[in-house]
Amino acid sequence: MLTFRQRVSLVSAGAAVAVTSLIAVMTTAAAAAGTRYEAESAPATCAGAVESNHPGYSGSGFCNGDNAVGAGVQFAVTAAASGQARLAVRYANGATTGRPADVIVNGAATQPAAAFGTTGAWTTWTTATFTVPVNSGSNTIRLSPTTAAGLPNIDYLELEANPSPSATASPAPGRPAECTGTSPITCRFAVAPGNYTVTAWIGDNTTAGNTSMSVESRRRILPAASTPAGTIIRHVLTVNVRQPEGQPTGQGGTGTPGLDITFAGSAPKLSGLTVQPATSPLAVYLAGDSTVCDQPTAPYTGWGQLLPTHVTGGAVVANYGDSGESSASFLSNSALFPTMRPLVQSGDLVLIQFGHNDKSTSAASFRSNLTTMITQVRGRGGIPVLVTPPVRRLFDGSQLTATALHVNGVGVNLPAEMRSLGSSLNVPVIDLTAKSEALVESLGPADSAQLFLRDAVDGVTDNTHFSEYGAGRMAELVVQGIRERNLPVVTYLR
Ligand code: GCU
Ligand code: CA
Repeated sequence: MLTFRQRVSLVSAGAAVAVTSLIAVMTTAAAAAGTRYEAESAPATCAGAVESNHPGYSGSGFCNGDNAVGAGVQFAVTAAASGQARLAVRYANGATTGRPADVIVNGAATQPAAAFGTTGAWTTWTTATFTVPVNSGSNTIRLSPTTAAGLPNIDYLELEANPSPSATASPAPGRPAECTGTSPITCRFAVAPGNYTVTAWIGDNTTAGNTSMSVESRRRILPAASTPAGTIIRHVLTVNVRQPEGQPTGQGGTGTPGLDITFAGSAPKLSGLTVQPATSPLAVYLAGDSTVCDQPTAPYTGWGQLLPTHVTGGAVVANYGDSGESSASFLSNSALFPTMRPLVQSGDLVLIQFGHNDKSTSAASFRSNLTTMITQVRGRGGIPVLVTPPVRRLFDGSQLTATALHVNGVGVNLPAEMRSLGSSLNVPVIDLTAKSEALVESLGPADSAQLFLRDAVDGVTDNTHFSEYGAGRMAELVVQGIRERNLPVVTYLR
C-alpha cells in the first residue's frame, strides 16, 4: 500500500554558487576540525521526510529521502579556505543493495554515482569519505540518488576545508592513457555527445610549466598560465561535446567523434585528467553566425570560442553558432535551431545573435524570426537573451558607418529592432553592438584592426571576423552584459 509522505521543505539552501576553477593542491596542513551539518535541520533540505525511528543517528533525526532518482538532500556549507576539502557523509542503508548517488558540489558532480553500499540494517550507520573542491565561503553540497531506490538514510555530513595532506590522500592521479605527446599534449576520450565534468591537474611536481587548455574545435577553456615547479593546480570544468564539432552544419570540417582536449602553452604540464558525465549543468546555448561560432580554422575565431574561459565548472557553453546564418536560416536548417531547441532544459540560457547575414531582411521578418526563437526557447523553460551583433570595422572618419552598425540593405536598423523587441517581450538584451562600437571607436581606425583579421599578421584582411584577440575582447563584452543583466549564469563566472 502506498502511503502519502509529505515533502519536507526546510529553509532553502539558496542558489548554487560557482565551482572553484582554480584549486591549489594542498601543500600546507591546517589542524581544522570538520564542521558537522545535520541533514534534518536547516539550512539542509531533504526531498523526503525527516524521521527518527532508526536509532544511532546524531542530532534529532535523519533525512529519509523519497525513493526516486534525484530525491536528494542538499546542504549549505561554509569552507574556511578554497581547495580540497574532506567530506564525510554518515548514512545507513538497510536495503540489500547499494544506493548510488552523485556527490554534487556547487553544481558539478565531483563524484558521480558514488557508492553507498548496504550497511545491513537501518540502525547501522557508517561514514563515506570524499575529497571535494570547495570555494572559500559558501558552497552547496547535494547528494542526488541515481537510481529509483533513492538515497540511503542520511544522518549528516562533515566538511573539513584545508585538511591535513593525510586526510585528503588525493594526489594528482597521473596522466591517463588517452593522452599523447608533450608539447602539445593531446587527449581523446571516446565519449558520446553530451556534457562532461573534466578535472585537469595542471603543473608538475618537479618541473615548471606553462599550460593552456582547449577542447574540441579550438574552444579555449583555460588561457596559458605558468606553474612553478612543485605546484599542481586542479581545475574542474564542464565541457560540451557535439558531433559534428566546430560548426553544426560541418562547414570547415566535422572534427572527430568523442572529446578532444589539447594542452598547449610554452611548456605544457599535465599531472592528471579525468572525464565524467556531468549532471545537469547550467547550459548557455549560443544561437548565432560566424562571429559567434566554433571556427575550425585559425585565424578566424568566434567569440563563443573564448566564452568558456569565463565560466566555471557546473555551467557549460554549447555553441550552435554557424557561418552565414541569418535569423531565418538558423530557424529552418535542421542542424541548427531544430537540433538545439530540444536540448534546452529548464533554466538554461539561450543567447541569440543575428544581423550580419540579415542583409535584406525586413523589420517584420526579423522580429518574427526572433520572436519564434524566443517563444520556443521559453516553451522549453529556457531563458532567451538577445545579443545585438558586434560591429564591422568600417569607418567614416573617426566614426563607424551605418553598415558597420548593422543598418541593413533595406534600411532596417537591426540592433534597434532587437532592443525594441527585447523590451516589448521582456527579453534581456546584451547590447553588443553598442559595446563593440564604443570599443572599436575608442581604439580608432588603426588600432581597432587588431580585433579583426589583418593581412600582415593573419594572411587575410577581414573587417567582420575576429582574430583570437578580438574574439576574446567580444567575449569579455558579452560577460559584462551577463553581469549587467544579472543573468542566472553570473554565479558561474570566473
Ligand atoms: C524503510 C525504512 C526507511 C527507509 C526506507 C527506504 O521504510 O524504515 O528508513 O528510508 O525503507 O527503503 O528508503
Ligand atoms: Ca528512503
